[in-house]
Amino acid sequence: MTATKPDLGTWVGKGIDRVDGPHKVTGTAPYASDITLPGMVHAVVVTSTVGAGTITKIDTSALLTLPGVRAVFTHENFPRLNAPPPVLFGEAPVAPMQDGRITFHGQEVAVVVADTPQEATEAARLIEITYAPEPALLDPADGRLEPLALSPDTSRGDTEAGWAAADVRVGATYRTPENTNNPLGLMGCVAAWDGDHLEIHDSTQGTNALRTTLAVMFGVPESGVRVRVPYLGGGFGAGLNQWPYKLLAAAAARELGRPVKLMLTRPQMFKLVGHRPNSEHQVRIGAGRDGTLTMIEHRASTLSSIDFPAVGLLTSGTPHLYNCPNVATVERTVRLNRRYPTSMRAPGEAEGNWAIETAMDELAHELGMDPLELRLRNLATDLDPATGKPWSSNAVIECCRVGAELFGWSRREPQPSSMREGDLLIGWGMAATGFFAYMPMSQARVTVYADGTAAVRSAATDIGTGTYTIITQLAADLLGLHPQQVDFQLGDSDMPASAHSGGSGLATSLSNAVIDAVTHLQGALLDLVGDDSPLHGLGPDDVVCRDGALCRRDDPSVRVPIAALLAGQGLVEASGDGRLRPPDAAATGMVHAGPYGARFVEVAIDPMIGRLRVRRVVSVTDGGRILNQKLARSQILGATVGGIGQALFEDTLTDPGTGRVANGTFGDYLVAVNADVPDVEVVFVGEPDRYTPSGTKGIGEIGLVGVAAAIGNAVFHATGRRLRDLPITVDQLMM
Ligand code: MOS
Repeated sequence: MTATKPDLGTWVGKGIDRVDGPHKVTGTAPYASDITLPGMVHAVVVTSTVGAGTITKIDTSALLTLPGVRAVFTHENFPRLNAPPPVLFGEAPVAPMQDGRITFHGQEVAVVVADTPQEATEAARLIEITYAPEPALLDPADGRLEPLALSPDTSRGDTEAGWAAADVRVGATYRTPENTNNPLGLMGCVAAWDGDHLEIHDSTQGTNALRTTLAVMFGVPESGVRVRVPYLGGGFGAGLNQWPYKLLAAAAARELGRPVKLMLTRPQMFKLVGHRPNSEHQVRIGAGRDGTLTMIEHRASTLSSIDFPAVGLLTSGTPHLYNCPNVATVERTVRLNRRYPTSMRAPGEAEGNWAIETAMDELAHELGMDPLELRLRNLATDLDPATGKPWSSNAVIECCRVGAELFGWSRREPQPSSMREGDLLIGWGMAATGFFAYMPMSQARVTVYADGTAAVRSAATDIGTGTYTIITQLAADLLGLHPQQVDFQLGDSDMPASAHSGGSGLATSLSNAVIDAVTHLQGALLDLVGDDSPLHGLGPDDVVCRDGALCRRDDPSVRVPIAALLAGQGLVEASGDGRLRPPDAAATGMVHAGPYGARFVEVAIDPMIGRLRVRRVVSVTDGGRILNQKLARSQILGATVGGIGQALFEDTLTDPGTGRVANGTFGDYLVAVNADVPDVEVVFVGEPDRYTPSGTKGIGEIGLVGVAAAIGNAVFHATGRRLRDLPITVDQLMM
């Protein structure tokens, strides 16, 4: 247990540039798509053209005569794989191509391998498949379907009594569509076997999760699989699961005895690597005349595929954000012949917050109360209302107050459609947010060298958020070095095991593992000091590393150079291994708090043509200790763009007859672009969190949460029109 608070502040927090930036902008950062191995061949996935049924015939003989084609795999000749193991938020949905069953339109049904991607693509186009189609289950209201519980129902108090006791009540249904993650980097891999040893370069968000999955499914020991991900081109959750394409490439490579590269196309990204599934939320909220909440009921449902359930988390924030004695949540899903769902940035919270924070705005309107005032009256800041225990930190009120001040909220005219500029209707809206704390296990090794440099190693991935940089800064502070003297190596499953970059969990998990590793390193260095050393008899917590020396914590002038310590034993390096050591929750008496936020938005609407412009966003976040101001701001900025996309554009359409993705290209699927994004003011408030030594909170996802509701609430303020189904589109805004 790291008992002593780490000494941070020289580099931690500073907005230094990404240490990996030069590699990225000069094109020397190797992504999976950049990997080329001797003898490598190329695989292309063929996907089903029916939404349900069975393959009755696949004729591949003609393909094998085409130029460059080496093999065609179908369920008839694809190797049998073991069932996927459970992996936290990262499992493989299925073992692919084990039989001829089709469970969704776009499912992997064949893999063509050829000498070039062009030859494989051409052959894949010519494959002939005959199906015995069955009617696809696509309507969630279909009576044949029994809804499944995605998470246990929660309840406190008596919601019916709270409803009866309310002076003002709102109740409505809110919907969010399917969204597709769409990281810039197309996902794919290069798999190569050497005997029974598999090495795979992939775009996974979790090297260890992929290693475990491949080892189990191919029946080899974990030590027989190495996963390499030094860089990945984003993911937003699409890289969490061990999707079939990786298994197809690895199996093809084994069968052919050659390295195989398999890159998905953009249209395949819409089908094969998950999405945020549709959700529906029935919400009832009651309050007294003074705005004090008397009940919240949140019944949510979402869509799953036949073989793989949705992540859920739709109601995860609802019991915790507001003080309210009577709260109930229910979360259900139905299984349909649809694509595999997965996490997408702020999974569940982004959808649930849309429902709850829109309902709160409706309640404020019914009460005749300022929406900000309603939040301030009810937000829970000291105690978690679900458990009654104190939060490890919670600055949600400060988020609201600081945001309101920066935005100029006090100048808001309360009546809808009362703020105008010429022909434009102006609307101001806001939303409050929280996000769960998620802290999966990570490990790290910290090594110091006799030449005064240091290295940190962990199997973690940097999804593009800045993991390379923040851990370099942290290690520099802990070791008393300049960041240029610290080399952080990651993205290799042979390194100390790490959690995925997901659930906004990695920064806290990994930073505390590094703090723990440095404590152990200091212990290892103390083992090297002689009896006559001024450091003799001290424990790891009594010393710090400064300027290449091990020093007394309480008197840094008492110091022994690390190089001399190592030289004295004939060593060139010393290491410490560390891991996240989550505190005993019961012993702390605290509830581990996640990040919080408040979003304030101004929209301008031209009612003649329904044009909506987001003109201003003020985004305030309680992110605990901020490790790098510049990168943290980038996280919130990017998430805000995602939130604008969720609110106004993103909508993956499924053909109701077949289950086909109807708009699975960047020509048809709209995302927010530069012209849609105004100046966004990003502010951090709050204190280092008390739960772990690093004091950090995850900020990878919170920035998206609340943006859609703030925009929708601004639309209501501008127009008086309450829109409850995302996305908000032009046709809904014409007056
Ligand atoms: Mo995030 S949706 O957990 O990658």
